Amino acid sequence: MLHFLRSSVGKKFIMGLSGLGLSGFVFAHMTGNLLVFKGAEAYNMYGHFMTHNPAYPLISWSLVLMMLVHAFLGILLTKENHSARPSAYAVQASPAKSVTTASKTMIFSGSILLVFIITHLATFKYGNHYDVEYGGQTVRDLHRLMVEAFQNPAFVVWYVVALIVMGVHLRHGVSSIFQSLGFNHPRYTPTIKWIGIVYAIVVAAGFISQPIYVYLVHQG
Ligand code: HEM
Repeated sequence: MLHFLRSSVGKKFIMGLSGLGLSGFVFAHMTGNLLVFKGAEAYNMYGHFMTHNPAYPLISWSLVLMMLVHAFLGILLTKENHSARPSAYAVQASPAKSVTTASKTMIFSGSILLVFIITHLATFKYGNHYDVEYGGQTVRDLHRLMVEAFQNPAFVVWYVVALIVMGVHLRHGVSSIFQSLGFNHPRYTPTIKWIGIVYAIVVAAGFISQPIYVYLVHQG
């Protein structure tokens, strides 16, 4: 078992599993957040429900663990890739070249996402705490926090750019999950590629619509 985890295939398997969990999370997070189009109460009650149910600590800590493992193994695999190719500038056959380009893009987009997630958590999860009351129940006013944050056009632009980067990362990442978990076959390659493209576009577009909508509709 330890031998498998130390091998490149084992590391890719764990990358695939953690990537699967994170891809599922971003989809769920994006769809839940679409409640912003319904209004402040729907959005805040959803946030309250998500953070006050018994599964929340487990989900939250699993996310932290998956992100750490995913980032750590991504860096490790990139390093191993580099040391396995000492003649990085030598002329290579095209498949090897495209693998290198893909992994370079992934480590670059992944690094931007890491910065995004840290600043994102600082802004929202650990940001200003406002309260609002609905029918005698006090809940956190995340909607107010979001409207405040997205009043700043520079912040909206940063989100749009980061979310496009997330789309690029997801497009390659989601297709790779199948390979990493051993579900690939040349016959399915075009389908797997399309699943990655459609998933990435749906998640990125769903998220991008939110800061733009909040900026345009809730002008201070
Ligand atoms: C338009 C884009 C987004 C908006 C408006 C948004 C909004 C929020 C808000 C309001 C919270 C705080 C929830 C709470 O504490 O109750 C949150 C938490 C979080 N968001 Fe986002 N989010 C966006 C995109 C993303 C993306 C793209 C990712 C990952 C790549 C992400 C990852 C997270 C994580 C990990 C948490 C913490 C979950 C926890 O409580 O453990 N978010 N987001």
